[in-house]
Amino acid sequence: MASTALLALFALMLPLGVNAQTAGLAAARPSAAIATPPMGWNSWNSFADTVDSQVIQRQAQAIAANGMKAAGYEYVNIDEGWWKGERDADGNIVVDPAQWPALKPAQKAGDMANIAAYIHSLGLKAGIYTDSGKSGCGYYGPDVGPKREHTGAEGHYERDFLQFSKWGFDYVKVDWCGGSDEKLAGPVQYAQIERAIQRAEAATGRRLYLSICEWGSQKPWMWGAGVGGAESTIWRTGGDIVAPVVEAEQDEKHLKRVVTLKQIFDSFDAGIHPEGQHTGYYNDLDMMVMGMRGMTESMDRIHMGLWAISSAPLVVGSDLTRLKPASVALLTNAGLLAIHRDELGLQAVKIAEPQPGVQVWAKPLAGAGRRAVALLNRTKEAARIDVDWTKFGLAPAPAEVRDAIADKDLGTQGAPYGVTVPAENLVVLTINGKELSATVYPASAKDNERIGNAPAEACRGCAGESLIAIGGNRALVFHGVRSATGQRLVRANYRNVGPATVVGRLVVNGVRGTGVAFPPTGKELRSITLWLELNDANRPNALEFGAPCGAEVWLESVEVLAW
Ligand code: GLA
Repeated sequence: MASTALLALFALMLPLGVNAQTAGLAAARPSAAIATPPMGWNSWNSFADTVDSQVIQRQAQAIAANGMKAAGYEYVNIDEGWWKGERDADGNIVVDPAQWPALKPAQKAGDMANIAAYIHSLGLKAGIYTDSGKSGCGYYGPDVGPKREHTGAEGHYERDFLQFSKWGFDYVKVDWCGGSDEKLAGPVQYAQIERAIQRAEAATGRRLYLSICEWGSQKPWMWGAGVGGAESTIWRTGGDIVAPVVEAEQDEKHLKRVVTLKQIFDSFDAGIHPEGQHTGYYNDLDMMVMGMRGMTESMDRIHMGLWAISSAPLVVGSDLTRLKPASVALLTNAGLLAIHRDELGLQAVKIAEPQPGVQVWAKPLAGAGRRAVALLNRTKEAARIDVDWTKFGLAPAPAEVRDAIADKDLGTQGAPYGVTVPAENLVVLTINGKELSATVYPASAKDNERIGNAPAEACRGCAGESLIAIGGNRALVFHGVRSATGQRLVRANYRNVGPATVVGRLVVNGVRGTGVAFPPTGKELRSITLWLELNDANRPNALEFGAPCGAEVWLESVEVLAW
């Protein structure tokens, strides 16, 4: 990443009907290889502060053996409770040697590298946990006490993230209990954290993936994408689905905890921020509670279906050694995982709610005419739900319909296609129909389309971000109605001929800016796709793409899909 952050700005402003063209010219470029949402396991929901080496080894063995690893679940994440807040005189983290013993003859007890190496030995990746503030949740609200002060990283970001990386961890969840209590600013702290992470990565050569956990309190979907230059990341959008259900703790507090369907819906509803999620940045709807106390088969199905169609992180918080085969089958369901790992990485948006609690959610999948649809019945009565794909960018022509969970071909059907969904249940379909024409806005030859193309002279001496406008005096104008969902699907076709992902920017109508990742493409044209809120009829829309100075990112065209 260029540290001289001169931002070259491509102001894409074309009057429709003059320069815009319908699909054909630039349509359906293959998608760029954006980072997919993480998948794995986390210790908190089922072990809380009782986590130790034994617990982690058993869970790592389970995920490696029960089919989850084969299906793509790769992280084994140690949450709060691993550290009691002690440091040595130099400020280095000190852990309890009994909690984290040596696992091999040559190892020393009290070294977190032991458990990271164990996780790696099973072909899995290792995750760890800290807090953005001085003390973490283990001080403010431990589940199984006592309170642990100084369990946060503040004042030690440089040292701690380097330590995590040296130990061999691949993933770090950074919580917000201290951050919240100290009234810190999320975008500032997490940018500092991400930059410390990048320095740690440079020192060890190991990727350390940041998981932001501030529960949506400062709207991270507005600033999480690209925070601190992150190439990919996730951010929690709400609180915990359920407080930990620790089976070994048979006290009243733990025994009365059960997951309810409402908690799952609340978490899903709080996480819908489609405009924040794109190019490898994801809304995190919280750890999965599949199979935990209170969960039924239909709740499992709703949970997995909604998380999959949201491309939310799939980090399971259950005790994997007790998970029923039916829950594992859903977690590893090929149809749902294909939707989850779809190359566009977008969230579903609500298309229709013909009666309260009866909902149709849809999202585009990579490839022309492909959609995933969740038919969600939150009510206590079975409901007949119509799917009308003309409401989400497909022609009013017959389309191929498939039941994604059952992996069953439902034939070629005309719209609307009706499905009966049992009470409190969900059906997930994939639809393969005829894509309507997109409107294409080519970048002009004169502007040379290079969004990182500030000439070398222009970069010299620039400090911070400065903007260069290229291709002004043109306007991107929409005629026609705003889409049913309020968002437009916008696809940018580009080349990044450099070796690495470039974290650029997009500013919509001079107001909302978001980090955008441009993965490398070689010489091929590739596309990234975003949900954007654009003005409707007759008002110009300006999409300003930028990339750091010197970045080899070339924009060929922008397409607005007919969604
Ligand atoms: C917060 C987070 C949880 C978990 C606990 C640990 O509540 O949201 O996911 O990490 O802290 O105390």
